[in-house]
Amino acid sequence: MAKKSARVKKAAKAKKTAKSKKVAKAKKTAKGGAGGGVGTAANGFAFANIKKSPDNFTSFSKDETLADSRVHGPPNIRPLRGPRKNPPVMALDEVLGNTAVQQIQTARSITIHTVGDSGGIKEPAGQFAVADALAADLVGKTYANGRAAFFYHLGDVVYYFGQERYYYDQFYDPYRDYEGPIFAIPGNHDGMTSPSLDEKSLDGFWNNFCSDVPRNNPDAQGFARTTMTQPGIYFTLNAPFVKVIGLYSNCSESDAEGVISDNITGPAQLNFLKQQLTEAAKDRDDGKQFALLLAVHHPAYTTSEDHMPSPTMLKQIDAACKAAKIYPDMVLSGHAHLYERYTRFVDANQIPFLVAGCGGFYNLAGIKNPNLVPPTTGKTDTDEEGYKVRLEKYYNRIFGFLRLTISATQITGEFIGVDVPTRKVSSHDKFTVNLRKNGNTVSSP
Ligand SMILES: [Fe+2]
Repeated sequence: MAKKSARVKKAAKAKKTAKSKKVAKAKKTAKGGAGGGVGTAANGFAFANIKKSPDNFTSFSKDETLADSRVHGPPNIRPLRGPRKNPPVMALDEVLGNTAVQQIQTARSITIHTVGDSGGIKEPAGQFAVADALAADLVGKTYANGRAAFFYHLGDVVYYFGQERYYYDQFYDPYRDYEGPIFAIPGNHDGMTSPSLDEKSLDGFWNNFCSDVPRNNPDAQGFARTTMTQPGIYFTLNAPFVKVIGLYSNCSESDAEGVISDNITGPAQLNFLKQQLTEAAKDRDDGKQFALLLAVHHPAYTTSEDHMPSPTMLKQIDAACKAAKIYPDMVLSGHAHLYERYTRFVDANQIPFLVAGCGGFYNLAGIKNPNLVPPTTGKTDTDEEGYKVRLEKYYNRIFGFLRLTISATQITGEFIGVDVPTRKVSSHDKFTVNLRKNGNTVSSP
């Protein structure tokens, strides 16, 4: 009983703090004059503030940076939240507008940014450094010379429980100068719920990424970025040269696999995957050229000490791919707080499996465990499905992001590291996927 009453008191205090924080922030924003938005905004969307502003995360309170990370919430699997429309498919021109999409078509390639696990709790400097580098990577570029069309977030946007009240600190403020759309799949921290809060799983994610129309959410507290209009927590994004199928792998933490379909979630998401793969295979047969990317927060493979691979989930994905006779050209994940690039050899196909969970969460694997001996790269193993897998690159102490450039014939990828104190960027991995009808190949200089 004593425990319960302490928890109730804590919740009331947290509510009060959040309220006064909001008032203070609204004042701060009004002073900064952030209102309005820029970027290649169309169709009611705004992306970045008109006026760029310096980082101010050192003014965050202790409560804001801790973000309930000391609260223990159950990482159990939750039932799925169904999409707003069926099938949950959207096109980039709904957000960027026809003119921008036409410019990307004319450029004959699309560039995208991607990374996960950005929520900068405890030490926000890492998240703000990566966010500033992402924003800087757009400056002075057009679609004709490699400007990223969007940032695809690989989940764990807001720690510790995806609460709406932390969207300001961990989403709207860090990306206030990023002049492009941000799409996302939820991670386990976006889906988990705090026992001391009356929020349903994924409330924060839904209200900020799955709006029916773009809105100025009060969570943004005056920053220009409008909500995203994804049709659901799992969805397909069709863009020139690329189709991204995004899946939600639920709330498992470090000691359990990601789950896309089981007896709690039901078959809806797996059926969506099968249907989307079948459609992609048909489109390819009809002569449409596009790279097929699969994004899912929990990685199929990882050597991380603190996060485990998800072979059961991979088996389900494999079965869906086999049935549809199409494999993704690349699989993107986060969750493990490091960067890993694997090549999986599926029949004649070489498929990169990327783990990019280094978007800003403070506790990178190599910082958490400084004595960790890195795994050997270049060594080939066999996975549980009998396919060969090789770990090509591994970095566990570098914050950064991936830049992918996709044309009708290839995907080039680069892992860009960001030095937090100096904000200097540097290249740590470059690779090319040659898209071929009779089997992709992966090369690296
Ligand atoms: Fe995660």
